[in-house]
Amino acid sequence: EYVQALREWVAVESDSSDITKRSEVQRMMELVAEKLRVLGGKVEMVDIGMQKLPEGGTIALPKVVTAEFGSNARKATVCVYGHADVQPARKEDGWSTEPYNLTDIYGNLYGRGTSDNKAPVLAWIHAVEAYQALEIDLPVNVKFIIEGMEETGSNGLAAMIEAQRDTFFSNVDYIIISDCGWLSTRPALTYGTRGNCYFFAEVEGPKQDLHSGVHGGTVKEPMTDLIGILDTMISSNGSILIPGIRDAVAPFSDDEWKLYQKIDFDMDSYKAKIGVDQLMYENKVELLAHRWRYPTVSIHGIVGAFSAPGTKTVIPAKVTAKFSIRQVPDMDPAVVEKQVTDHLQSEFAKRKSPNKLKVTMIIGAKPWLADPKHPLYQAGKAAVQRVFNTEPDLIREGGTIPIARTFQDVMDKSIIMLPIGGFDDGLHSQNEKMSRYNYIEGTKLFIAYLHEVAQIKKD
Ligand SMILES: *[C@@H]1O[C@H](CO)[C@@H](O)[C@H](O)[C@H]1NC(C)=O
Ligand SMILES: *[C@@H]1O[C@H](CO)[C@@H](O)[C@H](O)[C@H]1NC(C)=O
Repeated sequence: EYVQALREWVAVESDSSDITKRSEVQRMMELVAEKLRVLGGKVEMVDIGMQKLPEGGTIALPKVVTAEFGSNARKATVCVYGHADVQPARKEDGWSTEPYNLTDIYGNLYGRGTSDNKAPVLAWIHAVEAYQALEIDLPVNVKFIIEGMEETGSNGLAAMIEAQRDTFFSNVDYIIISDCGWLSTRPALTYGTRGNCYFFAEVEGPKQDLHSGVHGGTVKEPMTDLIGILDTMISSNGSILIPGIRDAVAPFSDDEWKLYQKIDFDMDSYKAKIGVDQLMYENKVELLAHRWRYPTVSIHGIVGAFSAPGTKTVIPAKVTAKFSIRQVPDMDPAVVEKQVTDHLQSEFAKRKSPNKLKVTMIIGAKPWLADPKHPLYQAGKAAVQRVFNTEPDLIREGGTIPIARTFQDVMDKSIIMLPIGGFDDGLHSQNEKMSRYNYIEGTKLFIAYLHEVAQIKKD
């Protein structure tokens, strides 16, 4: 039944990035609401308004589904956050199976959105269903908030959360997010994510593209300026060269070092998984620290650069680099924006170029960090012990889940990330999957977690 339920959800192409699929995302949200209604939840589909399109015009955002099971004031109340939209996928991208046709191969369930995030959302709903089927009272009140725009930046959700802070969320004690994965075959609890500052840097020169044979050597080329300044941001050994950028990074404590030392992580299988011969750091602790709790610069692309097949001897007139800085506590996006802009402008000035540089920060999502000693994490350890008979790894996530920080800042709630995804699930990639093992044992983990959370003394 659980696999069949997942098959039905995966069959809906709820790709939030493609506006031609918006009706499918809406239909997906209806399915989520229906599933929760069948279990007798108090369900609402919240209209969160319109999305502005870059090319002008607007389109309705997918409704956000909220649900409530139980309202006993003597019990704690947890709120499970998840999403039912997915990243794009086409068979031609290199999938071995049809991405929207759930396919079981040796116990792995392949399909777009299986691990991210449809199976975890279903597992939470099935956990509630299991209590009902066994006629056991839910040990805590359970609320759900499921959205349909996570993959494109949770458009409209922060405003909705703020608007419902004193209504739907007023009695919520704890937020649970299961939108990430383990680090190895060992279960994990996640206590931090990095933030993201995403920049565009545009260099504009001649009024139109030029022929490199006719004009090469006569003009300062925008592309050369751009590559030159990009190269001043990070050295080949990985250290960020933007002045001041590491000043606010929280020092690496002895406790953290010990925690990292204990983590189950094999450097060789990590290398094999991502297909590289050499990593930036040779030892596990340093590597994990740079993956999770130090900032980094990544250059993603250059608009206006010639990238078609064949050869074209062009001097592009205007080029725009896209790069981002994954930032960490206690960095502040507004400060990062100034540091990056000042640095690039000053490097650009040294080049004495007549071209124009414009630097803009497009996204400024903050990092999130919880205290792994919080009772929510103790409850997580107890639940993992009960279902998997082992200790979980306490890990952080290099990526960004902006909504965690919104819950923390807007509502001042304690949050736990309780993943059930496998380390090799291929989120956002070809052949995304969720194993039957993780899906079914993960459902048990959620059932156990509701029990363990109820044991936390309310203060
Ligand atoms: C889905 O895959 C199964 C095999 O796993 C196949 O029998 C079925 O025809 C496929 N359905 C669609 C709609 O492609
Ligand atoms: C990395 O490179 C920077 C700048 O090139 C240099 O200052 C720093 O000492 C290097 N760090 C290591 C560990 O080699």
